[in-house]
Amino acid sequence: MTIDNLKTPKVALGTWAWGDSGKAGDGYFGSPLTQAGLEEIADKAHAAGFSLWDTAIVYGMGRSETVLGEVLKRYPRSDYQLSTKFNARIAGTGDDPVADMLEQSLANLGTDYVNLYWIHNPADVPRWTPHLIPLLKSGKVNHVGVSNHNLSEIKLADQILGEAGFRVEAIQNHYSLLYRSSEDAGILDYCRNQGIPFFAYMVLEQGALSGKYSPENPLPEGSSRAETYNGMLPQLKALTDKLAAIGESQGAAAPDVATAWAIAKGTTPIIGVTTPHYIDGLVRAVSITLTSDDIAELEALADATNVNTRGFWEQEM
Ligand SMILES: NC(=O)c1ccc[n+]([C@@H]2O[C@H](COP(=O)([O-])OP(=O)(O)OC[C@H]3O[C@@H](n4cnc5c(N)ncnc54)[C@H](OP(=O)(O)O)[C@@H]3O)[C@@H](O)[C@H]2O)c1
Repeated sequence: MTIDNLKTPKVALGTWAWGDSGKAGDGYFGSPLTQAGLEEIADKAHAAGFSLWDTAIVYGMGRSETVLGEVLKRYPRSDYQLSTKFNARIAGTGDDPVADMLEQSLANLGTDYVNLYWIHNPADVPRWTPHLIPLLKSGKVNHVGVSNHNLSEIKLADQILGEAGFRVEAIQNHYSLLYRSSEDAGILDYCRNQGIPFFAYMVLEQGALSGKYSPENPLPEGSSRAETYNGMLPQLKALTDKLAAIGESQGAAAPDVATAWAIAKGTTPIIGVTTPHYIDGLVRAVSITLTSDDIAELEALADATNVNTRGFWEQEM
């Protein structure tokens, strides 16, 4: 019933960090960002054929969407796919807060449709899901997905959409070596059985699994992610060392291997890109082969870290 099948890439590009001001240490991520740097990221991604960009209205309260729309306007709209999200937490009081929020996102992005529109969090599935139906019918939204929903919420949303001839076409949850709740809860199996793409977010645990950060070189002071991750960096070392060692044998780096692990598990990782050369890492990641022994060793080391990286906005699955 949707206009075409969702084109699922091997890897999608995340822009939560683009909602920060770009000043080092400022905001959620605290990564230094410049307009020229973001344009270079987009150029490299375009050249490499990575074309699905994930954002949300709440990332910097419109800033990520606005900056992304600005950066991508150098390309024909058909060259890239935009994925953004409705968030009930900031819903307005009009007749259709979902349609209203989509209009805001379209204006921020400088476009008249999004390829993929998500319900960001499962506030009230029967209340919000039906609002997606007219947006699909109007063509302002090509495909819909649900994020941070557990299996019964996914099935309920799918049933509501199904009554109108649509379906949940994508799932987006936190999924990394350190956080495999969607796998444990059967959501990955459900997606595989139903032929629904599972988009894995925070595969690099916001940089903590990149191997770049350590107790001596922590995540940017003043950023929100530093508060979450800096205290656990010592426990992560054996895992990031193993990621690096596997990468070395294939001319790749630790984050490339973490991304390759998510691909090997059947998911589409959404990787937050803040630096042009991270696109090179994604190119390497899609060609890495991991053996089942590599995967088992990485998961055993991840379990041994004994850390819990559940986000403050996430529920137990
Ligand atoms: N639906 C949801 O609720 C939800 C929640 C979270 C995220 N997301 C989506 O998923 C995307 C990904 O998550 P995320 O950005 O939070 O975290 P992430 O992808 O786990 O980590 C991104 C961070 O890792 C570092 N990094 C990325 N590539 C690297 C490389 N090749 N080498 C070394 N470091 C690298 C960068 O940090 P530095 O800048 O410090 O180098 C970057 O900011 C988000 O941007 C967003 O689109 C969705």
